[in-house]
Amino acid sequence: MLSSLRTGTQSLWRVSSRALQTTANLQHDSLFVHRDTPEDNPSIPFEFTAENQKRADALLNIYPEGHKRGAMIPLLDLAQRQNGGWLPISAMHKVADMLNLPKMRVYEVATFYTMFIRRPIGKYHLQVCTTTPCWLRGSDAVLKAITDTTGCHVGGNSPCGKFSVSEVECLGACVNAPMLQVNDDYYEDLTIEDTKEIIEKLKRDEKPKPGPRNGRFAAEPLGGLTSLTEEPTGPGYGLQDALKA
Ligand code: FES
Repeated sequence: MLSSLRTGTQSLWRVSSRALQTTANLQHDSLFVHRDTPEDNPSIPFEFTAENQKRADALLNIYPEGHKRGAMIPLLDLAQRQNGGWLPISAMHKVADMLNLPKMRVYEVATFYTMFIRRPIGKYHLQVCTTTPCWLRGSDAVLKAITDTTGCHVGGNSPCGKFSVSEVECLGACVNAPMLQVNDDYYEDLTIEDTKEIIEKLKRDEKPKPGPRNGRFAAEPLGGLTSLTEEPTGPGYGLQDALKA
């Protein structure tokens, strides 16, 4: 199991991190060490549905013989989506079998990327970015609004089972900070009121409109364009006369 396979390097890392730690130790909410549970253990079978098996075959066909392991992340993602948003160990074993790889190669990938969720989660996975730009723009307040309105602590599921909350590193939308990812959608430029409104809609299984909440388009400046305001020049612009046809 993962626990026995990872203990060597992890224990070394823990020893050195304790010795060097000078600031508060923020515990990550992801599961790095597998423990068998009634809902996640290798004796629970996992097979792709017929529809997803076709997708898996198409993914495998992209990669030439000898390089099929390149399909590992898309296959794990497919398995996670089929399994209600989290990745059981049986699905990891299935992917290892399909790629003809040792199970360890799949454990390494599935435990490294936070996009793979190693615990049963709710219908709506709320991922709050708390990295510096989002933090400076109020992500702590956004996170508190989420935990208050869902009754769900970071790394857990809400009592109703509908929500799961994770605290994550930069999701690449810093210019629209603070932001929240709900399943595959981004909600950006959030205020506390926006956050509560999004959660209330999700509670009613309505889909809030993704994107910035302050009225701007994508990551454009809020006060209008400040550059690239002229009409684009046509072909041949700036070309010396001798080169023109
Ligand atoms: S810091 Fe939050 S999206 Fe980059």
